[in-house]
Parts: sequence; structure tokens; C-alpha cells
Amino acid sequence: MSTTPTSKALEGEWNGFVFRLATDEDFPKISDLLRDNFFTSEPLTVLWGTSEEYERDVDMMCRAMLGDNLSFLALDAATNEVAGVRLNFHNARESQPAPPTNQNAKRITYLLRLLNEKSQLFDTYKIEEFANLFTTCVHKNYRQRGLVTEIYRRTIALTRERGYFLAMATFTNPFSRAGAAKVGFQELARIPLKGLKDEDGEELAPGASDDFCITQAVYIL
Ligand SMILES: CC(C)(COP(=O)(O)OP(=O)(O)OC[C@H]1O[C@@H](n2cnc3c(N)ncnc32)[C@H](O)[C@@H]1OP(=O)(O)O)[C@@H](O)C(=O)NCCC(=O)NCCS
Repeated sequence: MSTTPTSKALEGEWNGFVFRLATDEDFPKISDLLRDNFFTSEPLTVLWGTSEEYERDVDMMCRAMLGDNLSFLALDAATNEVAGVRLNFHNARESQPAPPTNQNAKRITYLLRLLNEKSQLFDTYKIEEFANLFTTCVHKNYRQRGLVTEIYRRTIALTRERGYFLAMATFTNPFSRAGAAKVGFQELARIPLKGLKDEDGEELAPGASDDFCITQAVYIL
């Protein structure tokens, strides 16, 4: 008997792509996608650079998220190549982020804390849990075809099917932010990075442009 998870709301074809839930077996493909397409162009990683420790940390987080059965893939319908991934997890009030083990993870943990302090999701919406849309990546060969926008649309359907009241997404990339806004995500918190200091008083994002920011947005399901 197959134990592959399914979702009526998510799965199916769209514009030459096939969507399906991701399983633990997909982890090597997801890790490869991130190495070649995320760490090379996600704005914060581009600014800070990457390291083996950081990429391993992200791998570990992704692997853990797959267990929540909320993450999914978009495959090229013709070749079966992974064109995009959406990594989501179940965020309970008592959930604690893994302690950072490297400089990039430390800075990101700090930024997420600043966003959470601004938005106060649990108290604002009187909830004990929500769907946390951790990150997304579209393969370089499939960008600017509306794929991430469709990924956000299907994330809404999936998280609604799972009974969540709210989905929350964090954005460092203006293009994923634009795709999510198009399907109705509402911005709750924004931190401009230019001149921002970290916990030790050091500039957190030297070289950040005037418009570089990290934002948090929600969709009420
Ligand atoms: C960000 C990313 C997911 C966007 O995926 P995508 O499938 O190319 O995005 P879409 O085609 O759905 O485009 C969304 C919007 O951004 C615009 N856009 C996307 N890429 C663009 C580019 N390079 N230049 C200008 N506009 C762009 C699109 O035109 C669209 O806006 P519109 O609806 O007003 O036309 C992809 O570039 C990526 O994986 N980047 C690296 C990893 C990353 O940064 N992940 C997100 C972290 S928050």
C-alpha cells in the first residue's frame, strides 16, 4: 500500500507543470534545487555569501519540514524535472526555531524575531498555530512564467484544506512578495535592511540597497 500523501486541493496540472505534495524521498532533489537555484540568487544569501554550514542547516530544516506534509513540488510535466518547491511547516505557539550554528542563520533568526515582535501573530489573531510558509524556490529555467504566483495560490488551497485559519509568509525577494500579493497576501510587518544593526551592534546587511527589506505577510484562510 502506498503511503504517499495526497491533496485534492493542491494536486494537478497547470501550464505544463504538475503539482504534488513533497515526501521525504524528494529531499535529495530539493536539496539539489536549492544549491543550484536558491543559494545563488536569494537576495540575503547573495548579500552575505553562503557556506557549507549554512546550506547544511537549511537542508536540515527542509528535511524536518517535509515531515509536516505541507510542502510541495511543481514538476515539469514533460521531463519530470523539479521546477519549483514550496517549503511549509506547522508553526505552533510553543515551536522554537533551531539554535543558529552559523553567521547567516544567526542573522536570519534575528530578523525573524524582529518581524514576529512587530506582527505578534498569535495574540493579534488569537490563534495557537498557523501554516508557516518558510521559503520557496523556482528553478532558473522556469522563472518569470508565473510559477511562484501559482505556488502561492495552491498554498492557500492546501493550507485551507488542512484546516488552518491563517498562512504566514516571509519574503526577502521582491518577486515572491509580488506573486503572493497578487493572490491576496496582506503585509503585516516590514524591516528595511539598510543601516540595520544586529544584536552585537554590527551592521547586519552592509551594502543593502535603500529598498532591500524583509517582510511578513498573511492570508486569512
Ligand atoms: C523569487 C522567485 C521564487 C520568483 O519565481 P517566479 O516563478 O519567477 O515568479 P513569477 O513568474 O510568479 O513572478 C512574480 C512577479 O515577479 C515578477 N518577476 C519575477 N522575476 C522577475 C525578474 N527577474 N525581473 C522583473 N520582474 C520579475 C513577475 O513579472 C511577476 O510580477 P507580475 O505578476 O506583476 O508580472 C524566483 O526568482 C526564485 O526562486 N528566486 C531565488 C530564491 C528566492 O529568492 N526565493 C524567495 C525567497 S523569499
